Amino acid sequence: AARSKDNLRSPICCILGHVDTGKTKLLDKIRQTNVQEGEAGGITQQIGATYFPIENIKKKVAVLDKEGKQEYKLPGLLVIDTPGHESFTNLRSRGSSLCNIAVLVVDIMHGLEPQTLESLRLLRDKKTPFIVALNKIDRLYGWKTIPNNAFLDSLAQQSEAVRKEFHMRLDRVNLEFAEQGLNSCVYYDNKKMGKVVSLVPTSAFTGEGVPDLLQLLINLTQERMSGSLMYLSELECTVLEVKVIEGLGTTIDVVLSNGILREGDKIVVCGLNGPIVTQVRALLTPQPMKEMRIKGAYVHHKEIKASMGVKITAPDLEKAIAGSRLMVVGEDDDEEELMEEVMGDLQTLLSSIDKSGRGVCVQASTLGSLEALLDFLRASEIPVSGINIGPVYRKDVLRAGVMIEKAKEFATILAFDVPVDKEAEKYADEVGVKIFKADIIYHLFDQFTAYNKSIVE
Ligand code: GTP
Ligand code: MG
Ligand code: NA
Repeated sequence: AARSKDNLRSPICCILGHVDTGKTKLLDKIRQTNVQEGEAGGITQQIGATYFPIENIKKKVAVLDKEGKQEYKLPGLLVIDTPGHESFTNLRSRGSSLCNIAVLVVDIMHGLEPQTLESLRLLRDKKTPFIVALNKIDRLYGWKTIPNNAFLDSLAQQSEAVRKEFHMRLDRVNLEFAEQGLNSCVYYDNKKMGKVVSLVPTSAFTGEGVPDLLQLLINLTQERMSGSLMYLSELECTVLEVKVIEGLGTTIDVVLSNGILREGDKIVVCGLNGPIVTQVRALLTPQPMKEMRIKGAYVHHKEIKASMGVKITAPDLEKAIAGSRLMVVGEDDDEEELMEEVMGDLQTLLSSIDKSGRGVCVQASTLGSLEALLDFLRASEIPVSGINIGPVYRKDVLRAGVMIEKAKEFATILAFDVPVDKEAEKYADEVGVKIFKADIIYHLFDQFTAYNKSIVE
């Protein structure tokens, strides 16, 4: 199809912000799901993707558009959820680099927090347009809820005291943005959308302000970004996750930002033991309004056009690495060249392994979480001698066992968000390799430092 303003792809919107500001809960409210309550420790540790067809968005925005005047030129919205915990800078960076627009979520009771500032830096570095969801307005003392209402209408129903508290907190947040050198104002007063950051008061609990947030996202992207949203035939695709799914084998979850993926395509991705060249067996998506991270019934496709979160099944994906780019080998493409290109990202990670050969072994579920863990260990000055992605097997214990002679305190495997094979566990016990398992990075760190202390003493 032609490149034109009538052929737009869905914008990719990334949700960023400090931990526990309500990013996942906001998406749950729009999806009518309960993803957040199923997360370990209530903390997001992966990037997620959800597709919102425009029909569903229309319904949510309807309270603001009683006369039906709102125009819709987009097929939908692909939303990327990211973790706010400080350990996941790399995932925030990856999420924000995939997106066309971002929603920075700020807790109205807390104002700007450390990862808010970090997210602001990422957005500025990449010149990504963004709006702010000023979330948890239901926590203003005495707030009267009107579920899923437009914000201004809800505000008008509040007591004098609630409105006063709201404006007081709003002023404070505006001041904090000013301290960061940014002009901001509540969105309905914003006359200069291109220059001044819009704040949208929301509640992920009551749904108030959510129609406003969606309407603003749609208007900003379709009015101001139609140039960058024109559909391109050149493929742009990133692997978010490598997952074993019952009945499907090893699959990869990707974000398709541009171009078309087809069943049968020959694809190239970065693998732990070198580039992987394989053929797409099936293209699957979750149901609309469902999170890619959550197991569910998949929809099969012959081809998929950007933008979309897609699960790909294909042979030989076991060693594929999350975070890698995915390329399709076209008729005129040099396969070798593509293979070299996709391997670039892993080279960077491998270079962080300690040259002395002394250090812990680290195992994680994705390139992203491995990167996060390595960043964390580097900051804590814990050397790393080996890395791997995927479950811990006997051979991994064998490798860590080398350290028993060299430096016993490092004869450990830090296993982040990956299963440990039964036999591997038994073998580790026999030879004296300590395996620490956790699905929250800093818990791993705590276990390791306690153990390290006990050995050194
Ligand atoms: P991370 O992904 O871990 O960074 O957190 P998050 O930003 O996704 O926040 P999450 O959705 O996990 O919500 C954190 C906590 O705040 C949970 O206990 C939610 O129930 C609560 N919460 C989220 N949004 C709201 C809101 O609008 N009002 C109130 N009262 N509580 C909220
Ligand atoms: Mg979350
Ligand atoms: Na959370």
